[in-house]
Amino acid sequence: MNLNRFPIPFLILAILGLLAGLWAGLMRLGWQLPTLTPSLAMLHGPLMISGFLGTLITLERAVAMKQTWMYLPPLLSGLGWLLATIVPDLPFGVILLTLASLGGVAILTEIVRRENALHTMTMLFGAAAWFTGNLLWMFGWQMYQVVFLWMAFLVLTIAGERLELSRVLRPTSFQQTLFSVITAIFITGVALALFNLQLGTRLSGLGLLLLPLWSLRNDIAWRNLRHKLPLTRYIAWCLALGFVWLGVGGGLSLVFGAQVAGPRYDAVLHAVFVGFVISMIFGHAPIIFPAILGAPINFQPAFYFHLGLLHVSLAIRIFADYANLHTLRMWGGLLNELAIFIFIGMTVMSVRKSLSMKG
Ligand code: HEM
Repeated sequence: MNLNRFPIPFLILAILGLLAGLWAGLMRLGWQLPTLTPSLAMLHGPLMISGFLGTLITLERAVAMKQTWMYLPPLLSGLGWLLATIVPDLPFGVILLTLASLGGVAILTEIVRRENALHTMTMLFGAAAWFTGNLLWMFGWQMYQVVFLWMAFLVLTIAGERLELSRVLRPTSFQQTLFSVITAIFITGVALALFNLQLGTRLSGLGLLLLPLWSLRNDIAWRNLRHKLPLTRYIAWCLALGFVWLGVGGGLSLVFGAQVAGPRYDAVLHAVFVGFVISMIFGHAPIIFPAILGAPINFQPAFYFHLGLLHVSLAIRIFADYANLHTLRMWGGLLNELAIFIFIGMTVMSVRKSLSMKG
């Protein structure tokens, strides 16, 4: 069976999940858009976390591990977000998304079995957080109660991958211990937030603040900011700016404490989800897409446009959140989305170009 033929439909499901999630995000900001389905706006978080990223992350693992059963979790999350959106009154969608995240735990357990290391364990904790968040949500917990578990899924997955790549710099055992202590602070905060939202939010914020500080010495990204290869330099900027926003998100969590909705909630979440996660995706795409599609990405200096737009518009959005300027916040969010669309367009064009050169 040619497994390389598999990814395209999964990838399309993930991208459609992203588009539905972004549409819902605009509605949540207050833009008057057609509702499409009654529950769409309320599903923005699950669509982005499980529908888009859960599908993409498990798909990447399935492609890398070349195991047919590992395609089940991305299939479940792809179908899960569709069902959750189309038939919100029935629980099937939420159940499939929860099963998908359980599948994510199974994939990571297999990866840890093959390579028991700090970075694989970190990613396993991330997958477990995703599953726990979905499970609690399925049993009726509110999103603001589980959102830090979803955040932990993404932060720990990315942190584990960065740790793996930091092996080039050979971190000392002291630095590895420091990484473990920082992630333990973050995980403890996330778990504590389930019982005491105020204390847990602040503690997890401290962990998020310390992680970029750790990266300054141990992540190759910071040294590559002046690399002579343009693609390597571009990736380094995506990662470094992402780390800056992670620190900002952590700092805001530490200062603001528990939030259940509104501008401060928006600021804390999206400093991490847009500033860190989306920027990391911008930087990771030139590595992931060649692996999934078997075609390299041609770097173009225009890539800096969507990167710059993402970060400037996010700064506007967070400032507007802080200053309680509702219209400015709406525009900041819209421009965040424009940056993501330009990124998708540039990536598709660049992949098509390199496929046609290959053909
Ligand atoms: C790029 C444009 C985005 C826009 C315009 C947007 C918009 C919003 C808004 C307005 C809220 C509600 C905040 C409030 O209560 O005032 C929200 C919540 C949330 N967003 Fe986003 N978002 C975006 C990107 C993302 C991304 C990339 C992710 C995940 C990776 C994400 C995950 C979430 C989650 C989990 C919540 C909390 C869900 C809830 O409480 O219902 N968002 N978003």
